[in-house]
Amino acid sequence: MTMTMTADEIRRAFLDYMAERGHVIIPRAPLIPRDDPSTLFTGSGMQPLLPYLLGAEHPGGRRLADSQTCLRVQDIEEVGDNRHTTFFEMLGNWSLGEYFKEEQIPQIWTFLTEKVGLVPDRIFVSCFSGDPGHGIPKDEDSAGIWSRLFVEAGISADQVDLGTEERAAEVGTNGARIAFYGKKNWWCRGGNADEMPLGEPGGPDTEIFYMFPQVEHDPAFGANCHQNCDCGRFIELGNSVFMEYQRTAEGFAPLPRRNVDYGGGLARIAAAAIDSPDVFRIGLLWPIIERLEELSGASYDDQKRSMRVIADHLRGATFLAVDGVTPSNKAQGYVMRRLIRRAVRFAFDLGLEENFFPQIIPTIAGIYAAHFPEVGEHAEYVEKILAKEEQSFRRTLRKGLKQLSQFAKTGVTGRELFVLSDTFGFPVELSTEEAERKNIALSENWREEFDEQLAAQRAQSQRRTTLHV
Ligand code: ALA
Repeated sequence: MTMTMTADEIRRAFLDYMAERGHVIIPRAPLIPRDDPSTLFTGSGMQPLLPYLLGAEHPGGRRLADSQTCLRVQDIEEVGDNRHTTFFEMLGNWSLGEYFKEEQIPQIWTFLTEKVGLVPDRIFVSCFSGDPGHGIPKDEDSAGIWSRLFVEAGISADQVDLGTEERAAEVGTNGARIAFYGKKNWWCRGGNADEMPLGEPGGPDTEIFYMFPQVEHDPAFGANCHQNCDCGRFIELGNSVFMEYQRTAEGFAPLPRRNVDYGGGLARIAAAAIDSPDVFRIGLLWPIIERLEELSGASYDDQKRSMRVIADHLRGATFLAVDGVTPSNKAQGYVMRRLIRRAVRFAFDLGLEENFFPQIIPTIAGIYAAHFPEVGEHAEYVEKILAKEEQSFRRTLRKGLKQLSQFAKTGVTGRELFVLSDTFGFPVELSTEEAERKNIALSENWREEFDEQLAAQRAQSQRRTTLHV
């Protein structure tokens, strides 16, 4: 197979394919949900469509598709590996009570294997093993459809029932194509069937994984590898949620319509298309990495984690600015500030100690302007907002560094580190790294001392916000 589509081409191909199949293509919703105070950011493609999944009529009809920009800050600490990002685009298609499993599963299989050209034999899937407590059966229907598709492609379609991830890590799949899991294959916002608020929709899902044989299973993640193993050998490309239930006081009731909610990670599909387990190698991210290499003189191979964090965070901050957020100490503005400050802090690792945002934002804007014209239109404004925050944080950093040298004269314990973080906004990771660089000794128990100060302050007051980057 020589076909290698770029992320831009895959996005276009997905939307064209879904349009041919009767879907109306809808524009992305902003990262800040319009009428939903329950969540800070749009974290999945279905979120802006919630009323329609619950039964309202969408002006575009009952077959919809889009590429939705999403932000998931709960994953912020995981950014730096080969596949996690806070910002991502989710390719989505929805059937609002029109078609169900029988049409969705072959539809997405054909897109991935025939349109994108992924190797069928490297696709593995998971299905829902059932929830007897709530009276929800094992999803034999989806498994049956998958089985048929694999067999038609000349691929074995063995099934294995794993239940929990812990058990899966023990026994592994032994290469079984279709693995059943419990909680892992239940999808609702928040992820947990027992904690769903009343009225919330959800349902079993079937997930699609791509296997990268060049990645060896890492036993640190369990004795045996399986679809949901975190070692990086399997990467989830997307999932089709069969959203047919709604949480009630008694348990679950059927929704007025049986919906399909598909979400696929554009970056991950694009990475699979170029056979790279590293999503940062795709066209939506690689130019940012190359720019970082140029600006810093450092190489990606030596500085993967820092470069990945900076690329991801500045991309997220760019879209937040486009969608009207400005850095602040509250809500979305706080998260934006955190992304920007983390980017500055990780830039230190590359030796980028002077302002560099104005040299990199145009690269990010250039990547997205063709598909999302609003990014091109607001590029100068975005640069201004982000550069201003960068400048002010660098001032903070300089003051913090000076103060650290002062403290160094009398000794640095967790107490001083706390003052630096709390009063000077100087992140503790930076203090400790800087101390190491300058051979400043820290007290042996600085971490506990720092945590004690933090706990004491939290207990005392909620008035001030400490910014940890
Ligand atoms: N709503 C599903 C998800 O976000 C598709 O994973």
